Amino acid sequence: MRSIPALTAIALCATIGAAADAQDLQSTRGLAATCAACHGPDGVSVGGVPPALAGQDKAELLQRLKEFKAGTRPATVMHQLARGYSDEQLERIAAYFSAVAAGPAPAAPRAGD
Ligand code: HEC
Repeated sequence: MRSIPALTAIALCATIGAAADAQDLQSTRGLAATCAACHGPDGVSVGGVPPALAGQDKAELLQRLKEFKAGTRPATVMHQLARGYSDEQLERIAAYFSAVAAGPAPAAPRAGD
């Protein structure tokens, strides 16, 4: 019987976590947008340079970002950029890009067309 309150607590935490995720989505999009200048809209880069982020494994993305931040992964710009984010923000960014479908970004509508 002792395990039932524990399970309830776990279920409650999961529910609260999901609600927090939904609230965080908007701010995570904002964080991820700062990567778009180089990695392309939603992390789908043109020609793979720099590497596309969309659809990559979350754990791998996070690992690379943390290595950039720590300075242990060779980089031209990413080591400087990664230092601007907390570990918690990097985790959210990694989760965001891993959830985005890889592939060409839809063409942006152009004004005047
Ligand atoms: C100024 C351009 C620029 C911006 C902005 C930028 N990146 Fe990068 N990124 C690069 C380049 C260039 C590389 C290749 C490594 C290097 O030379 O620094 C790279 C590499 C990476 C890699 C390694 C990918 C792989 O498969 O090896 C990850 C992960 C990454 N960037 C994530 C991000 C995230 C997340 C953001 C936004 C917070 C971001 N980058 C913003 C230019 C940029």
